[in-house]
Amino acid sequence: MNLHIRTKSFRYLVLGTTLAATGLVAHAQGRKVGDGVFTAEQATRGAEAYEKACASCHMSDLRGESFAPALNGDAFGLRWENGKLGDLHKIIKATMPADNPGSLTPQQYADIVAFLLKANGYQPGQALSENPADSAQILFGKK
Ligand code: HEC
Repeated sequence: MNLHIRTKSFRYLVLGTTLAATGLVAHAQGRKVGDGVFTAEQATRGAEAYEKACASCHMSDLRGESFAPALNGDAFGLRWENGKLGDLHKIIKATMPADNPGSLTPQQYADIVAFLLKANGYQPGQALSENPADSAQILFGKK
């Protein structure tokens, strides 16, 4: 009897642990840009930083001009639908502004990424890390 009870609770323990572990993995791998991955404050600060550092080439309304691609609409959607947020962040940090790459602070880069997400219709939520590596697993996916 005693043994039976112990076996049974052990089985529940294993089952419970497996479910919890599966849930954690699914959460870590399945995080999406649409799950709220930046704050409204970041996006607001980012709008100002974008205007100063990016709008001269990508335009204030993000539609792009000449060689500078649009950062919204279908162009942005198609470019990133199979991409990861960390890569967008990393590329911007390493290569933009094109005339002075890496010239902004880590906070300004994160703020600008937040602004771009907001401008593309994503909802705010938790803060976006200033380190692109922290967003390496966050997928854009289809909206
Ligand atoms: C001096 C003009 C100029 C400025 C200023 C500038 N860009 Fe760009 N940007 C470009 C050009 C040209 C390209 C296309 C060539 C390339 O990808 O390097 C580009 C490409 C991009 C891309 C697409 C990269 C990709 O792989 O799809 C993003 C995103 C981007 N810029 C964001 C920004 C942000 C954010 C800022 C402000 C911090 C900024 N740019 C400032 C000229 C500029």
